[in-house]
Amino acid sequence: MLSVKTGDLAELKTDLLIIPVIEDAAFPKDRVLAELARKIDFYPEFTGGSGQELMLYGPDGVEADRVLFTGVGKIEKADAEAFRAAAGKAVNRAIKANLSDIVFVARGPNERIHAMMEGAVLGNHLFDIYKREKKDKALSEIAFHVEKARRKPFPEAAQKIETICKGTIMAREWVSAPPNDKRPDMFARSIVKAGDKENLTIVDLDERTIRKNKMHALVAVGAGSSTGPRMVILDYRPEKYDKTVVLVGKGVTFDSGGINLKPSNGIADMKQDMAGAAAVAATLITATRLEMNHRIIGLLPLVENMPSGTAYRPGDVIRTATGTTIEIGNTDAEGRMILADALSYAVKQYHPDTIIDVATLTGACKMALGPKIAGVFSTNDKLSARIIAAGSKTHERCWALPMPDDYKDMLKSDIADLRNVGKSRWGGAIAAALFLSEFVNDTDWAHIDIAGPAFSEKAGAYCPAGGTGFGVRLLIDWLGGL
Ligand code: BES
Ligand code: MN
Ligand code: ZN
Repeated sequence: MLSVKTGDLAELKTDLLIIPVIEDAAFPKDRVLAELARKIDFYPEFTGGSGQELMLYGPDGVEADRVLFTGVGKIEKADAEAFRAAAGKAVNRAIKANLSDIVFVARGPNERIHAMMEGAVLGNHLFDIYKREKKDKALSEIAFHVEKARRKPFPEAAQKIETICKGTIMAREWVSAPPNDKRPDMFARSIVKAGDKENLTIVDLDERTIRKNKMHALVAVGAGSSTGPRMVILDYRPEKYDKTVVLVGKGVTFDSGGINLKPSNGIADMKQDMAGAAAVAATLITATRLEMNHRIIGLLPLVENMPSGTAYRPGDVIRTATGTTIEIGNTDAEGRMILADALSYAVKQYHPDTIIDVATLTGACKMALGPKIAGVFSTNDKLSARIIAAGSKTHERCWALPMPDDYKDMLKSDIADLRNVGKSRWGGAIAAALFLSEFVNDTDWAHIDIAGPAFSEKAGAYCPAGGTGFGVRLLIDWLGGL
């Protein structure tokens, strides 16, 4: 879908030619562009400010049917994200106008062009599989016109970017899918189906095997549902590798809260509670397609948290796979239960160099950092710094939160080794992270709480409302720097 073009801009035939404009920077010196720039001067209301757009229909000097100038704002604010957003918005506008092929005029530093490619591919995604009438259609062709002398690296970069963005879109579609269409068995099948086409080893453990592996915490959370828990393992193992990484994703296909039932306000959004698993599955598939040179294992505990006569109860004591006993203070703190079994399985089975888990774990994290930023917890500052750096590059932003030792007191139980919730509600995201830390021994580990950014009620510049696919671009970038 993404392609790279060179040649005379004047002769380019397309539905729409898009030209990004920086408010306070000189226009590219190209003859055709300079000619078009004179047309902007005719409309003083367009200054190139962030979010501004100016459409010209059939202007002289070019074969393109339309030319769209899109403002990215002042140069000091015109970072990669400004270009990603501008490209996404332009694609949206083209979709709304029912166009099918568009061309971006791509000038300036490579990172800027790469960001525009990302925004364009991500913005060309619609989630309409449940609509009878599909009003909008995704564009069939998005091209980037670059200067001939600089062409060389772009086709390969475009392909890589398209592969990664397709991973993000895969995760988005899983997260946006309704919970009746992704119950643990169905979601497992869907992941297996997606992974089967790739060079991956896939195992899909059913409830019997999960019991055999003593993962009683995972079983307990699934006990209230008529569909049992699953554990899907995706193993990417290139011929030569030096690092082994395990990625763990929380896969609660619907989180009703269980016996501690959530209030009806917002409960429907809890279909998003498998966003960690979606991000990890899509990352594994993407890493395989990119032929990355590490062994990467994805562990996906999948479960539905429901109230019923067979559900686990507040007050229950559950024995995890490691033998640690947990007193259930609240059945709605289910994510940490299933992650406990998955994390200890990761340590025991693979002795990895690093484990990262991704989870929509706590409302407290969303409360602290809002809907767009994830919380990162790690006892290894270098690891969290690398994750945060990958987050600022991809604009999947992460912020480090602490794991103070003395806060472990919150998780003390009178009758068991641990309680699954703190005695007070303060510091809920930290309490959850400290709980997880009990199951990784001294393995290098980070926990990313994506309760905020996994799902968006509103459409963004390059993301429709619903699942955001948060984590895929972040993890791929982090893996690339490993
Ligand atoms: N899945 C939720 C957390 C969540 C909240 C994700 C908002 C996405 C958006 C999690 O399982 C949960 O219910 N956490 C409780 C923990 C509490 C019972 C200690 C919470 O955050 O209220
Ligand atoms: Mn919950
Ligand atoms: Zn949950």
